[in-house]
Amino acid sequence: MEGYHPESYGEAFADVYDEWYSEVTDTVACVATVARLAGGGPVLELGAGTGRLVIPLAAAGVDVWALDASRTMLAALAAKPGSTRVRLLLGDMARPPVRPGAGFGVVLCAFNALFNLPDVGEQRLCLEAAAGLLAPGGRLVVETSLPGGAPDPDTGRPASPGDFETDAVDVRALEEDRVVLSAWQHRPANQEIRGQMIDITAAGIRLRPWQLHYRTAPQLDATARDAGLVLLERWSDWQGARFDPVLSTEQIAVYGLRR
Ligand SMILES: C[S@@+](CC[C@H](N)C(=O)[O-])C[C@H]1O[C@@H](n2cnc3c(N)ncnc32)[C@H](O)[C@@H]1O
Repeated sequence: MEGYHPESYGEAFADVYDEWYSEVTDTVACVATVARLAGGGPVLELGAGTGRLVIPLAAAGVDVWALDASRTMLAALAAKPGSTRVRLLLGDMARPPVRPGAGFGVVLCAFNALFNLPDVGEQRLCLEAAAGLLAPGGRLVVETSLPGGAPDPDTGRPASPGDFETDAVDVRALEEDRVVLSAWQHRPANQEIRGQMIDITAAGIRLRPWQLHYRTAPQLDATARDAGLVLLERWSDWQGARFDPVLSTEQIAVYGLRR
């Protein structure tokens, strides 16, 4: 998308992020899983946003670092109780401003943050950097949606990025004094979805742009391999449910360093 930068998503969504997305995944199970995988070592979250995950991780006693490209997201994180236990880093997750060999027990890339990177080259840079930041025995944990899978049986809505129609507009919220429309263009050949949340109130129209460059699980594994990583586990949710290569619409992939 023309004029879309690493900080664009965060700057556009920081003020509504917690209201719209605080319930998107099982935070309790995610925090327990990441803390277990870190084995007492520090955790770095790439694209940490408003701290939905790092604040409870820090409260659980984990030494947590939070990197984000958006100053406004990090300011929202810093305003929360418990944030003083989190080390904040402003930067691009494809080029994290942390010295290689920092020795993290887990580097976490949650809730499609990796797909915010605009192409395979940037995603590979990110995974290479993450691999270079792991302690021996450390884990890279990547949570994403996946193309494919059945539509939601209750709503009939697309279950994952690959199910989005090519171009469409949906109503996200309809209130007495506010309408939020979601407009998107899906380019399956490029595995890319570009969208806008169009937030309309009496005060005016606020555009909230987003884009996702999504990948299949095998594609992600191939990029991880190129970055020196090997798949150790893959679940379809944070509870550790079995991953189904055809039906699963979400994945949590756990990678370790290739020996
Ligand atoms: C979908 S949000 C996820 C936030 C958080 N991980 C969570 O699960 O709630 C994606 C986050 O990644 C950040 N982001 C997007 N592109 C980035 C980049 N290139 N480098 C660092 N952060 C980025 C955004 O600012 C946003 O906070």
